[in-house]
Amino acid sequence: MIKAGDRVPNATFTVMGADGPKPVTTDEIFKGKKVILFALPGAFTPTCHRNHVPGFRDQAAAFKAKGVDTIAVTSVNDVFVMGAWADASNAKDKIEFLADGSAAFAKAVGLTLDLEARGMGLRSRRYSMLVEDGVVKTLNVEEGTGTEASGADNMMKQV
Ligand code: BEZ
Repeated sequence: MIKAGDRVPNATFTVMGADGPKPVTTDEIFKGKKVILFALPGAFTPTCHRNHVPGFRDQAAAFKAKGVDTIAVTSVNDVFVMGAWADASNAKDKIEFLADGSAAFAKAVGLTLDLEARGMGLRSRRYSMLVEDGVVKTLNVEEGTGTEASGADNMMKQV
C-alpha cells in the first residue's frame, strides 16, 4: 500500500469532457499542484453518493481557500458512469471525476477492494490523500463503513 512520503505512481485515468471521454495522466493532475484525491468503492452507491462526494463538494471553496488546487475523486467505474455521476452530484465544477475503469490506479497504489461476492468485482478501497507536487503528504484509509477517516471534515484538518 502506498504511504505518506511516496510518489503517486504513474497511471492514466479517463474523464468525461465536453467532446467525450479523454485520458488524463497522473502527471497532468499532480505535477506542481496541491491535490486532494479521494477514492471510493462505487459511483452512486449510498455512502459514496449521499456522504462522501457531497462532503468534498460542499467544502470545495474552503479547501481552495486553503490553497488546494484540485479536488478529485476516483472510482473503478467506466467514464460514462463517472460522467453521469458528476452531473447527478452537482459537483462537476468542483470535483474532477476520474474513471479508473480497469482498476489500474487502485492496483498501483495497493488499495483494491474485492467486492466479487457482492456482484461488483474488483473495486477501490475508500480513502483520501493529500498530494503535493506528486508526493503523498497524508493518507486516510477508511477501515469502517463510514467516511470518518476519508471524508472532507478530516481532510480539512490536514490541508
Ligand atoms: C456504499 O454505500 O458506499 C457501498 C455500498 C455497497 C458496496 C460498496 C459501497
